[in-house]
Amino acid sequence: MTATIIDGKAFAARVREQVAEHVKRLKTDHGIKPGLAVVLVGEDPASQVYVRSKGKMTVEVGMNSVEHKLDADTSEADLLSLIDQLNNDPEIHGILVQLPLPKHLDEDLVINSVAPEKDVDGFHISNVGLLGTGQKSMVPCTPLGCLMMLRDHHGSLSGMDAVVIGRSNIVGKPMAQLLLGDSCTVTIAHSRTKDLADVVRRADIVVAAVGRPEMVPGDWIKPGATVIDVGINRIERDGKNKLVGDADFDSCAAVAGAITPVPGGVGPMTIACLLANTVTACCRANGLAEPEGLTA
Ligand code: GUN
Repeated sequence: MTATIIDGKAFAARVREQVAEHVKRLKTDHGIKPGLAVVLVGEDPASQVYVRSKGKMTVEVGMNSVEHKLDADTSEADLLSLIDQLNNDPEIHGILVQLPLPKHLDEDLVINSVAPEKDVDGFHISNVGLLGTGQKSMVPCTPLGCLMMLRDHHGSLSGMDAVVIGRSNIVGKPMAQLLLGDSCTVTIAHSRTKDLADVVRRADIVVAAVGRPEMVPGDWIKPGATVIDVGINRIERDGKNKLVGDADFDSCAAVAGAITPVPGGVGPMTIACLLANTVTACCRANGLAEPEGLTA
């Protein structure tokens, strides 16, 4: 079998188009322009690239983009004061504090100081609790993107066996909650899981989110299963710098029914879902109907 390649780049472009249409309607019908504030503390090069890309795409879909770049030695009090100001700014509907934060800042405290209704990352403890209890929440962007691709490919996920490899707060745990919400039978595997190969072999859906290059080989995959590869790992091969996922693409694609490539799979969906979350937050803040198909 040769797997269908799930084209995340094209899917993300369609999501951004839907967001742009909704933004246009908000403007013409209600005179509202959604606004996203991104806060970056320090000069981490990867974070700078992400933030630039987020700002560019925010503007492209017609929303306001506000960037706050703070020095690496910014005090916790100053950062919390900026977040408080953004929480109270009616023109800002989404707030994202880029992670990781410098070591002297308490990440949990900072995340939980963002107003839950503006928490477009879905990391605030209130949103985590709402998602876990099946209530309306802001949903973390990467798992939301994975869910959208799975729903698009399968229609209903009800009754499917899903294995999520990785238990991070950003991807693994919320992904498992979303799959459970769509009535999958969910296993969360991690570094201490015994017989990981056997666990993965039972799955109709495999979400690999561990950050270890090509750790899932094709002979772990049930024939016809869907592989969602969240990993973005830089490796050296044949003297070249290469991006690879957490799944070994060639061997998995030979067995799977469908697979997301790296790059061009899950990656582009993350920012598209951030924009979707911002327009959702804006609609909720104004008591307006939410865009269909852009939330969980
Ligand atoms: N750093 C890497 N990924 C993310 C993300 O999804 N959100 C935030 N806030 N920071 C990140």
